Amino acid sequence: MTWTWDYSLKADNKMKDYHYFSINDKKFTSTQLYRHYERQKKSNKGYITKDLSYTFNTSNSFENTIFQRKTWVNELPNKQSITKDFISQFSQLAFIGGDRPHRSYPSGGAQYYVNIHLLFNENRVEKEIWNQGNVTELNADTNQLLIKRHVPWSQIQTTFIQDHLAYTSQFAIVLSVDFQSIFEKYNDISYKLVQQEAGHIGQNIQLVATYLGIEAIPLGGFYDLELNKVIGDREITLYALLLG
Ligand SMILES: Cc1cc2nc3c(=O)[nH]c(=O)nc-3n(C[C@H](O)[C@H](O)[C@H](O)COP(=O)(O)O)c2cc1C
Repeated sequence: MTWTWDYSLKADNKMKDYHYFSINDKKFTSTQLYRHYERQKKSNKGYITKDLSYTFNTSNSFENTIFQRKTWVNELPNKQSITKDFISQFSQLAFIGGDRPHRSYPSGGAQYYVNIHLLFNENRVEKEIWNQGNVTELNADTNQLLIKRHVPWSQIQTTFIQDHLAYTSQFAIVLSVDFQSIFEKYNDISYKLVQQEAGHIGQNIQLVATYLGIEAIPLGGFYDLELNKVIGDREITLYALLLG
C-alpha cells in the first residue's frame, strides 16, 4: 500500500495503534527475543577526517561520571543503602533540578508530559521509604513523592522480562504518560516528543546513578500491560530502568 499523508490529523489513533503494536506481552516473548548481531564499526566512508581523540580528565567528577557510565547486566550489587535522603538527592539531581524554574532535563514546549514513578523493593530498601506504599510517583513541581499503593516486589518483579535482575534491584524507575492527554497540545508530533523527553530523563538516571555509586540498567524488556497496571491511573509505560 502506498503511504499518503493523512490531512485529517487524527494522529492519536494511529499512534495508539503503533504503540500497542510494539508492546511486549508474555504470550509473544519467545518470538520477540531477537537474535543478537555483533555490531560492525562504521567506516569513515572515504571522507577527509579530523581526529577528535581526547583523554578524559577523570579527576573531574562530571567527566568521570560520563567515563564510568555503563549498563549493568549482572545481578545488581546494592552497594548503597537506599534511604529517603538518597532518593531526595537522586530525584533533585536527575529530575527536579533544585530550587529554580528549570528541571534537570528539557521537555518539548516545557509541557513535562512524562510522569516519573519510583517503585521500591521492600526487601532491599530502608523501611522509611516504603512503609506507606512502595509504588510512588514524583511530583517535581512540589518536591514530593506521592505514595500511590503497595504492590509486593515479588509481583512487580514479574513485569520485567529479566525478572532475575529485577529480583536483585533495589528500585525501578518507570517513565509513563497519560495517553489521553498527550495529544492535546502537539497532536501529531506528541508521541515523538514524549519519547524524546523520556530519553533525556533516562540518560540523567544513568548518569546520576553512576555519580551516586549505584548501577542501572535501562530496559525495553518489560511487559507493558502488566507494568501499566502496577503504576495505575491508566498510564502507559514508555521506558523503565532497574537500579541497585
Ligand atoms: C532503549 C534501550 C533498551 C534496552 N533494553 C534492554 C533490555 O531489555 N535488556 C537488557 O539487558 N539491556 C537493555 N538495554 C541495555 C543495552 O543492551 C546496553 O545499554 C548496551 O549493550 C550498551 O551497553 P553500555 O550502556 O554499557 O554501553 C537497553 C538499552 C536501551 C538504550
